[in-house]
Amino acid sequence: MHNEELHKIAKQLVAENKGILAADESISSANKRLSDVGVEGTEDNRRRYRQLFFWIPKIEEGLSGVILHDETIRQNDENGKPFITILIEKGIIPGIKVDLGAVNLPLFSDEKITEGLDGLRGRLKEYYKMGARFAKWRAVITIGDGIPSDACLDANAYVLAQYSALCQEAGIVPIVEPEVLMDGDHTIERCEKATGAILKRLFAELVKYRVDLEGLILKSNMVIPGKDCATQATPEEIANATLRVFHNSVPESVAGIVFLSGGQSPKDATENLNAICKQAGPWPMTFSYARALQAPSLEIWRGDDGKLQEARDMFLKRLHLSVKARNGEYRSEME
Ligand code: 13P
Repeated sequence: MHNEELHKIAKQLVAENKGILAADESISSANKRLSDVGVEGTEDNRRRYRQLFFWIPKIEEGLSGVILHDETIRQNDENGKPFITILIEKGIIPGIKVDLGAVNLPLFSDEKITEGLDGLRGRLKEYYKMGARFAKWRAVITIGDGIPSDACLDANAYVLAQYSALCQEAGIVPIVEPEVLMDGDHTIERCEKATGAILKRLFAELVKYRVDLEGLILKSNMVIPGKDCATQATPEEIANATLRVFHNSVPESVAGIVFLSGGQSPKDATENLNAICKQAGPWPMTFSYARALQAPSLEIWRGDDGKLQEARDMFLKRLHLSVKARNGEYRSEME
């Protein structure tokens, strides 16, 4: 019923010269980001943190969409204007994180399952009415001794497929995000294996539950070694491994692929995105970063509004470089 509209929104999200800002950190993650720069984690400070970015003139030149948290989609700027209205007026598509976070997978120590399906149909209706046109659900896959288990991969793939079907029923484009964490000392080969395993299962479930892949975006980790692995990889090795996995596991009809930064430094996330995007695939590819776009700016702001301009210029710099990278035109001299 909504398919043409879903296809249109999905295409817009991965449009040329643009990417997505993930401004949807959970309350506890947002508080952690704030306390790391000496700002108390209150509702108003989280609101000021969002306003820092949403008020930047011309962000729409590099952003197709912004993913919001449930708290943020209900908040206003300091003049009383709803954040979601600010984004819509700039021509940015508002998105909403709808999962309720990852919890321990029962009887499987060290593995996670993401909660939030109960009541989701009703919540999606409300978000649609508020103006959200896409959603995000993050599943967490951990690499370690004997993990990820088949049970963890199957359970998360099933839940991601149910979430996607509910989104499309509500006229909302689902972003499916099975994040293979870079925590640990695993090799790039193990990351490649785990990423391929979850993506194969995920797309089998999505097809089984009749999800229209042309109205869906995949949000993926890059295929990289664990952050404590002794052998790190070059951007070209990362690009080759990432594209190899996608070619083997992601159907060509998927509307686009976007990347999370996952704890990489902003420069690494930009260099690696550039190497990946230089290799043409059948899918449009771009960024959907939280930390790699926001962290350097937050580090400057530290809650001091005297530093707003400098912090905003830094955000625009990271955004500009990320756009260059999604076009395969980034060079480290641009830093
Ligand atoms: P990072 O870019 O900080 O990994 O966040 C992206 C995201 O949306 C994780 O769910």
